[in-house]
Amino acid sequence: MKLVVLGACGGIGQTLSLLLRTNALIDELVLYDVVDPVGVATDLSHIPTRQKIRHFCPLSKTDDSQLRMALQDANVVVIPAGIPRKPGMSRDDLFNINASIVQQLVKVYGEICPEAFLAIISNPVNSTVPIAAEQLRSQNCFHPERLFGITTLDSLRLEQFLGELTGEWDVQGQVYTVGGHSGETIVPVLGNWRLRLSPEQIKGLVNRVRYAGDEVVQAKQGKGSATLSMAAAANRFLCGILRAICTGETVDEVAFVNVSRLKADDCFVREMMHKVEFFGVPISLGPEGVAKVKSLGSLSADEKEAISHSLPTLCAQIAKGARFVKESK
Ligand code: NAI
Repeated sequence: MKLVVLGACGGIGQTLSLLLRTNALIDELVLYDVVDPVGVATDLSHIPTRQKIRHFCPLSKTDDSQLRMALQDANVVVIPAGIPRKPGMSRDDLFNINASIVQQLVKVYGEICPEAFLAIISNPVNSTVPIAAEQLRSQNCFHPERLFGITTLDSLRLEQFLGELTGEWDVQGQVYTVGGHSGETIVPVLGNWRLRLSPEQIKGLVNRVRYAGDEVVQAKQGKGSATLSMAAAANRFLCGILRAICTGETVDEVAFVNVSRLKADDCFVREMMHKVEFFGVPISLGPEGVAKVKSLGSLSADEKEAISHSLPTLCAQIAKGARFVKESK
């Protein structure tokens, strides 16, 4: 199993690579960055595992030979490359820089390893995932069941903040967020936990999860956004993917995926899938990628309303990503 981290020298990339270094399902961990990852790779290589570790860096601004070598025979590719937010910025403000970075990396992925699972961290996820899809479509190698935007951090935050309210932290899979990965497009789904909370607590919890990224951006005072918690979130998601590929087990995850052609268990989800091309949903993963969209269970009226409310913003951000690729041709 070969896993490639594109953007491995950044705040997320380094921490994520550390967590992946001890994953026994990975035979080869490849670090790629425009800043030479030799130091990070050498440092990690002293952690004893049988895993092989390799590093690549472009030889010049226009060189993609090293990226091609990095991606050769990859099974899983994760992209945390790009710039993070500073105080006062929205994720959408990152679009101009990160859109090109993601498009360029995905173009080479499409040429070298289009069958690999591709997981995108770079923001704004609501647009960078559609950018990847549109780029791959233009290369006739789009496999929608293997393209993911990682939204796991929103679910991690929901689990933690719910724990702070209830004293129960073992709620993974019982609560999660759906929709997108910015502001009001993030929709927490609380399942039966909603019965343990007052309406005010639910309102506060939903709002905190939606804007938790700002808490970190402000606390870091201009030195970046969430890196440690994001690396933990990405590691959780990638462990799920690796298990699905390596063991053939069906694994449940939540991710921002192309929902237009997926099978879905419940009719609310099916209805919503006709209105939006990409959506963060609970999914069953198999060795070939997403097998189906799972049921959202019984949603409250507020949760249904929040999902409907998220759709216009989400559709606009998805369209912005697709337009960027079309206009760059
Ligand atoms: P960072 O600035 O610390 O690291 C980014 C890395 O990408 C740097 O090492 C940089 O050299 C590298 N890079 C830039 N262009 C590249 C290219 N063309 N090829 C390869 N590497 C390249 O940023 P950080 O904090 O690690 O964040 C990375 C991205 O993740 C940002 O866009 C941020 O907004 C996003 N993010 C996403 C979250 C999510 O929930 N999906 C949560 C937190 C951050």
